Amino acid sequence: MTFITLDEDRPLRAVVVGAGYIGGQWAPELLAHPGTELVGWVDVVEERARAAATTLGLDGLPVSASLTAVLDGEEPDFIVNCTIPEAHREVTVTALERGVSVLSEKPMSITLDEARTMVRAADRARRLFAVNQNRRFLPNLVAFRRTVAELGPLGLLTSEFFMPYEGPPFLSALEHPLLQDMAIHLFDLARAVSGADPVSAYCESFRSPWSWYPGACSATAIFEMTGGLRYTFTGSWSAPGQATSWTGSWRAAGSHGTARWDGSGRPTVETVKEHKARRHPPEPDRYPGRPRFSGLAEGLEEFLTGLRTGRAPQGECHDNIRSLAMVTAALESARTGTRVPVAFDV
Ligand SMILES: NC(=O)c1ccc[n+]([C@@H]2O[C@H](COP(=O)([O-])OP(=O)(O)OC[C@H]3O[C@@H](n4cnc5c(N)ncnc54)[C@H](O)[C@@H]3O)[C@@H](O)[C@H]2O)c1
Repeated sequence: MTFITLDEDRPLRAVVVGAGYIGGQWAPELLAHPGTELVGWVDVVEERARAAATTLGLDGLPVSASLTAVLDGEEPDFIVNCTIPEAHREVTVTALERGVSVLSEKPMSITLDEARTMVRAADRARRLFAVNQNRRFLPNLVAFRRTVAELGPLGLLTSEFFMPYEGPPFLSALEHPLLQDMAIHLFDLARAVSGADPVSAYCESFRSPWSWYPGACSATAIFEMTGGLRYTFTGSWSAPGQATSWTGSWRAAGSHGTARWDGSGRPTVETVKEHKARRHPPEPDRYPGRPRFSGLAEGLEEFLTGLRTGRAPQGECHDNIRSLAMVTAALESARTGTRVPVAFDV
């Protein structure tokens, strides 16, 4: 899909929507980038936006509880949607319908129907809409992806995610918090690492009796992917002890050998005799010495390049909806107890 590019020689005007945890991480990125200007901050709780701006020394920054007032008043080029997932559709579509591009936090939305509405709104407006999947930019994930690409055709990709975690209140309101909020990170990485797309899903999502979440926050899922690859995910937010990294723990088995990655350090690889796969090193940090939430600066850079050149960034909505479709198919499978085809048509 093509979107309108921005050719004017000036910093691009940005508004952050949502002044919770991740909004507070995105605003410094917009301030640090020479090609962007932070021109407003919106939160349904206006005092939250005011307090967040004050914390960054931005006392004069326009803040409001009204998205439309800030869009009309400040005329931004793009927003960064940092609201809770339930608000993503409304915020994103409101911006797109006013001709404003959107860089969104994951997940794109809760349901696939909402996502389709958002992608169609981007198509109609001919504006760039992308979801930043920050883990795609981790230097050792990139190294793992490069190593896996040298393993020949893949047969099996596995990821385990075990992290005891008490998240923000919106998570406790979800029926399947692990699948609805977290799993998208790993499902999206499975696509990034393998280059394959989902075909079908079988999933069980459940609540262990000791869990501190009312909803189901343990799950195991098997995906058939294109090329006959099987991708499996097992994870829990209420499994105390022996935590994995926040990116999980990975194994990829191809015709030439196997690569493993613990989700943080350097990947390892072992191949059969006649084949070689390099143990790729991590990319050097492009932003050394600056404390930051990883993968936001890189995602912003790709998004801005997209706005300037028309080159779709990773996470462009027509691509990212495929990762969301893995989540929604897994949820449907968990609810029906059946294997479910993964559909991501718009
Ligand atoms: N990439 C990552 O690793 C990562 C990490 C944390 C959160 N997130 C994602 O970021 C999003 C926000 O998470 P959070 O932890 O910052 O949540 P949060 O609850 O801390 O903050 C959300 C904020 O959005 C505001 N809000 C809700 N509806 C709104 C609306 N319609 N308009 C304007 N503001 C609205 C709330 O008042 C709140 O201040 C979620 O989608 C979450 O999954 C991603």
